[in-house]
Amino acid sequence: MVTVRAPATSANLGSGFDTFGLALDRPADIVSVERAHRTTIEVTGAGARYIPEDPEKNTVGAVAEALDAPAHIHIDKGVRPASGLGSSAASAAAAAVALDELYGLGHTREELVPVAAEGEAAASGEAHSDNVAPALLGGFTVVADDGVTQVSPDLSLVACLPDIVVSTRDARQVVPTSTSMDDLVETVGNAATLTVGMCRSDPHLVGRGMDDPVVTPARADLITGSEGVEGAARAAGATGVTVSGAGPTMLAVCEPGTRRAVAMAMIDAFDDAGVDATAFQTSVG
Ligand code: HSE
Repeated sequence: MVTVRAPATSANLGSGFDTFGLALDRPADIVSVERAHRTTIEVTGAGARYIPEDPEKNTVGAVAEALDAPAHIHIDKGVRPASGLGSSAASAAAAAVALDELYGLGHTREELVPVAAEGEAAASGEAHSDNVAPALLGGFTVVADDGVTQVSPDLSLVACLPDIVVSTRDARQVVPTSTSMDDLVETVGNAATLTVGMCRSDPHLVGRGMDDPVVTPARADLITGSEGVEGAARAAGATGVTVSGAGPTMLAVCEPGTRRAVAMAMIDAFDDAGVDATAFQTSVG
């Protein structure tokens, strides 16, 4: 049996829509695989009842198919589905690594990025490597047409997950289909600032670079209380706050030593808006 842990991830980081991704130290999915003649899947843990165990409908079933590696696969979900924390990407990445090792296929992590992304696409209809890339490679990743680049920054983070449902489909429908040249220039500047900040593990540059005038404002409208949560997090020590992936999780980058205060402030602000929330105090995975 081979067991692999893959972390939650936060895609976009504001200015890097469908491009940037960050692995979080926690939560994580744990996937165990054993050789079998045909693939079977068992799911336990957070939100397990929402995840199909039919290999044709499950992300990891598609990964097993793509690698021609049938197995009995057990997924212990730590990353709740539909949270904006790369739940299906965590399962797909862990399964890809585990099956590769089980069958001695010898793929590199980089080679497994499109395999895991294909798995996500087969199960959910659309694939964005901005979650599977950091789940497989760790750290901060930039997904571009000609490949993935990665650095491993040291940052204090809080991921605050409200008890509301935002479907990725709805979150993609509100994304503007065009933008002005002014907003494009601002976004490129912010994305570049964020990237420098990641290379320097500088929470101020990363926080500033997460500002995004195009996608995040449209998506924040789908998250009850998000404006108050952002203000409260900044007042408690966050250098930047954005929607994690398609939401509803809100991700905060924090001044060292302020994670606990930021987490409490975000939970209280969601509570003020009538929304229950939980928060993960985490770092880069
Ligand atoms: N980049 C994607 C989005 C991540 O924001 O829609 C979720 O699949």
